[in-house]
Amino acid sequence: METPIADFVSAYLQSGVSRLHMPGHKGRGPLGCERLDITEIAGADALYQADGVIAQSERNAAALFGTAATFYSTEGSSQCIRAMLYLSILHAPSGGKRPVIVAARNAHQSFVLAAALLDVEIVWLWPEDDGFSLCRCGISPLQLEGILKRLSRPPAAVYLTAPDYLGGAPDIAALAETAHRFGAPLLVDGAHGAYLKFLPHSTHPIDLGADLCCDSAHKTLPVLTGGAYLHVSRHAPADFMENGKRALALFGSTSPSYLILQSLDFANRHLAEDYPSRLTACAARLEVLRAALRGNGWIVAKSDPLKLTLAAAESGWDGKELAALLRQGKVECEYADPDFAVLMATPENTEQDFNRILSALGHNPRQKPLLRRCPVLLPPETVCSPRKAAFAPSESVPASLAEGRILAAPTVSCPPAVPVVVGGERISQSAIEVFAYYGISSVQVVRER
Ligand SMILES: Cc1ncc(COP(=O)(O)O)c(C=O)c1O
Repeated sequence: METPIADFVSAYLQSGVSRLHMPGHKGRGPLGCERLDITEIAGADALYQADGVIAQSERNAAALFGTAATFYSTEGSSQCIRAMLYLSILHAPSGGKRPVIVAARNAHQSFVLAAALLDVEIVWLWPEDDGFSLCRCGISPLQLEGILKRLSRPPAAVYLTAPDYLGGAPDIAALAETAHRFGAPLLVDGAHGAYLKFLPHSTHPIDLGADLCCDSAHKTLPVLTGGAYLHVSRHAPADFMENGKRALALFGSTSPSYLILQSLDFANRHLAEDYPSRLTACAARLEVLRAALRGNGWIVAKSDPLKLTLAAAESGWDGKELAALLRQGKVECEYADPDFAVLMATPENTEQDFNRILSALGHNPRQKPLLRRCPVLLPPETVCSPRKAAFAPSESVPASLAEGRILAAPTVSCPPAVPVVVGGERISQSAIEVFAYYGISSVQVVRER
């Protein structure tokens, strides 16, 4: 597959033209990549008015993902999430009332901040599964149906996160069918799942019925940090595609990174060539590793194929202890909390990496689960909108002393950047216990007069 953006930059380098344009490094500098770092000069196209090399590259991505349109983001899924919310509000004017979005509670903070920015009212879907974890939110089509029936008008959208930080996902196909039956589009934060499209059996949200989906290409594909996609399904309302660029431009810098754009461009070539078979091989290798770890007494949770989610507490360990054990064995994991340690692999990992995981963990000497469990978060009282809370005067207070206070802005441990309490909610005793469990020691609350 051709790489029009990278080819343009390469030809520009060959031409030896003097750079009397931005950026100020003029192609020279300590990183070595400066020569490839250009800006929107003649012929380089413009990300938000693309009709040249960027448009061609985005069409290539759309063909690979089987979408009506795939737009590039150089500012991560965070930018795409803001754009998805904007598009859904634009599509469903609410007659002067605040738009409503029904969302699974394990949403990333970029969703909550976008809701504050766009003054969205969020109706939360709370997890139905046992064993509360901040990252997880098991919800069912029946639960969604119940909530949609109770709303006086269809929401602007239903919003899900899949896969989540632990690698779990709800039944997207069934939830899409339910949302559509009630006239609501389905938006999916697929930040962790770009690669799912390229496995022999795709479970990519767009293939399961989502109307809009964002993927952080940089999380699971060989793409520089910041590279992401906003996908519009072929079945989505036409205005999602017509306004997609406009929506991204609203939240993006006017100086998109051409390093990231070239990286997204090269990813298309990889995905059109051998990357799908390498992904399949990597998923199979991880399955072998999971079996070996189970044989050594470790409990490995169910997850998407490229995550290795160690059920630390069930295996007798605190997740952070496991992360330290792995670190001693020269392995750095993606995420650890008291219950889990999560490792993310791609075909770029080597056999040495997988062997290190196995030898760092060895045989599990503790076979008894830890008795401690995450306190269950009871749905907090909503006092005001996330927007009102975000714009109110605020102060930082110790989380342990915050009972009864109204949260101003989500305070998150990053990763997973999933808020315990969102702006405008009253902090309850159960929330304080969850803050303590996840090591959150201070929170930003609305100042009391
Ligand atoms: C579930 C989820 N959604 C969205 C994001 C934001 O993605 P990005 O960092 O590409 O902006 C993240 C980041 O970690 C995430 O984990």
